[in-house]
Amino acid sequence: MERRARIYEGKAKILYETDDPDLLVQYFKDDATAFNAQKRGTIVGKGVMNNRISAALLTHLAEHGVPTHFVKLLSDREMLVKRLQIIKIEVVVRNIVAGSLSKRLGLPEGQALVEPVLEFFYKDDALGDPMINDYHIRMLRLASGTEMEAIVDGAFRVNELLTEYFDRRGIMLVDFKLEFGRYRGQILLGDEITPDGCRLWEKETRERLDKDRFRRDLGGVEEAYAEVLRRVCG
Ligand code: TMP
Repeated sequence: MERRARIYEGKAKILYETDDPDLLVQYFKDDATAFNAQKRGTIVGKGVMNNRISAALLTHLAEHGVPTHFVKLLSDREMLVKRLQIIKIEVVVRNIVAGSLSKRLGLPEGQALVEPVLEFFYKDDALGDPMINDYHIRMLRLASGTEMEAIVDGAFRVNELLTEYFDRRGIMLVDFKLEFGRYRGQILLGDEITPDGCRLWEKETRERLDKDRFRRDLGGVEEAYAEVLRRVCG
């Protein structure tokens, strides 16, 4: 697959066109940002680890009936993906209180939720990705009612599958962010599933194995990503 023009560069990834108009190369960088890019840094080897972690998780989801954009790994830092028309909503699923939920509602981090909580954020860097609800989604015409059903069902299904998957590997899936897109009339799961966009806590020690180590200057960032890779890919 020939890599052609760069069509998008984000904080952690670059997308390139290929000779097939339906397929893109997704390249994973080591760059890390937090707090809407106010904090910047490098996590050495992150791109290589995230490429493999995301490939393994998206493959697991596809094998269990969740359609995704993932096609195949191409190299250490590159995967081939279907070219989605991305829906400008970040879908966050939470199982345990952490991060902005803890701040917003004044709840202690680590409190288990009686049922998963779903949140939507408007993907708009200039606005700092504000939280939105179904009414805002309709008003802004971000997605149709049918599309939102597929997205919500998909997000809860991903949560069930990944909670069990990580639990078997001694990791608690605290929360995570998903993005979806349109592809030939279907809604597919896109983007990545990695410690950049998930909170993953070691089950016994509750040690954080995710980007919170970078956000909060906890140290051992590379080691945490390597541990997730080890548990996911064996
Ligand atoms: P939050 O607690 O900061 O709202 O984050 C919830 C989850 O979503 C957490 O696992 C990190 C992920 N996330 C992203 O992937 N990108 C973002 O821009 C934000 C704010 C959160």
